[in-house]
Amino acid sequence: MTDRVYLTTPLYYVNAEPHLGHTYTTVVVDTLARYHRSCGRDVFFMTGTDEHGDKIAAAAHASDTTPRTYADRISAIFRSTWDTCGITYDHFIRTTDDYHVALVQEILERVHAAGDIYFGDYGGNYCVGCERFYAERELVDGKCPDHETETEWIKEENYFFKMSSYQDRLIGHLEKHPDMIRPAGYKNEVLGLLREPLEDLCISRPKSRLAWGIELPFDENYVTYVWFDALINYLSGLYHLKGEQGPDYWAGAQHFIAKDILKPHAVFWPTMLMAAGYPVYHHLNVHGYWNMGESKMSKSLGNVIRPLEMKERFGLDSFRYFLLREMAFGMDSSFTEDAFIARFNADLSNGLGNLASRVLAMQKKYFAGRVQSAEGLTEALDAELEAAFVTAETEMKEHMDNLAIHVALEAVWKALNACDKYIVETAPFKLWKEESQRPRVGAILHVLCDALRHTARLIDPFMPETAERLRNMLSVHPEPLSLAAPAWGGVFVPGHQLADPESLFPRLDVGD
Ligand code: MSP
Repeated sequence: MTDRVYLTTPLYYVNAEPHLGHTYTTVVVDTLARYHRSCGRDVFFMTGTDEHGDKIAAAAHASDTTPRTYADRISAIFRSTWDTCGITYDHFIRTTDDYHVALVQEILERVHAAGDIYFGDYGGNYCVGCERFYAERELVDGKCPDHETETEWIKEENYFFKMSSYQDRLIGHLEKHPDMIRPAGYKNEVLGLLREPLEDLCISRPKSRLAWGIELPFDENYVTYVWFDALINYLSGLYHLKGEQGPDYWAGAQHFIAKDILKPHAVFWPTMLMAAGYPVYHHLNVHGYWNMGESKMSKSLGNVIRPLEMKERFGLDSFRYFLLREMAFGMDSSFTEDAFIARFNADLSNGLGNLASRVLAMQKKYFAGRVQSAEGLTEALDAELEAAFVTAETEMKEHMDNLAIHVALEAVWKALNACDKYIVETAPFKLWKEESQRPRVGAILHVLCDALRHTARLIDPFMPETAERLRNMLSVHPEPLSLAAPAWGGVFVPGHQLADPESLFPRLDVGD
């Protein structure tokens, strides 16, 4: 892995407010950004909003306002939601930003001059929801496979990008870079698509039908098709912020998307990059869809989960934990409140929360919250617990690098289980009853405080607030994951005073 990592979320359409699906991708990228930073890598993390096109124009019209005013309002909601959720993006881009418009026009000009854009006639089945034409064979019962709505037959003169002439180069690139699209199932889906002849891409809309877009630099009667505009954000934002260092970050570029927008990212985008003379991005990481129980999440079904409501009701970190732990990256998952509460109680309340409060309560009760010396008092069990944390850290890093985020969390929880087992086996509450054993109780609690200190390090990318609360209780500073291996001992000098324990995750009852 290079030292520079560039991570992106999709640019969300401003026709809807942030919900569970947007939040998942954004939280995943935020977690990975925190993880890579903690490992000592130089991260650039970008998110933002996609503001042109039919969909936005229609939504603005429906709410009796101009597309610009409408986009300003919803884009600000996305931004402030991510701010309230502590998302550590480095740049928030809007496709209406000047530098973005300028690069889209520059690339169009270049590709046009190179002869890869031509003017022609086209009729096709158009889905406004997807902002794209569908071939007859892609429709299901004559309807859009994603929105399950009737498509519209649109015939007009437009500009086309010669995507078909890049088909072989794209196949060659995918073969040469077998992990470009991850997980592999999605790469195979793309290779499957590429077994059929690739069509050219219609990249314009006549202003007579849609004026809300970036004007083509070579024909003022047309605006740019929203996908040809939006994908370029990944370059425009990067180069705007990083200037000459742009290519270094671009070499480590990883896009994160859900499977709904696989084709634009896996086919349109790399061929656009080839035509415009840029290297193809490093990875496209594709996750599955969140469903609400058995059904799709939709406004009309009234089952849309809003991140700020979840934060209000259950706290940010438990929502982050659920999203990251419940979904196997790449597969679909189902969100239900029962599953949320069950996981909260099992892993957070009974697991992490209970462990921290037991250790801190014993430390307070027996030693007035002062950590004791462990010197000359350690036993084989202590080394086993330390080894469990070394293993957890190695496994966690391996799984994070492979995007098996839920397994990375599982690896950390194995170390927490090892702490529970250690408490049962060393039984400090029993030893305390024998006066002569009390120094050993001090050593056991010392080891457990070290274990909690490492827990804070390990969970920090996933649950930053909880890591901070844990560190505050232990009165220690943050420690990055770039440390070679967990160093035990040394931090808690005898007499180190802990803060009062607090309950990290009070148990939830159904109906809370
Ligand atoms: N504007 C385009 C993307 C352009 S990128 C240059 C777009 N926007 S969107 O608002 O529809 O966002 C789609 C993305 O939101 C998905 O790819 C995914 O990241 C997230 N999700 C929206 N609903 C989702 C689920 N139900 N489940 C999981 N993620 C989904 O497409």
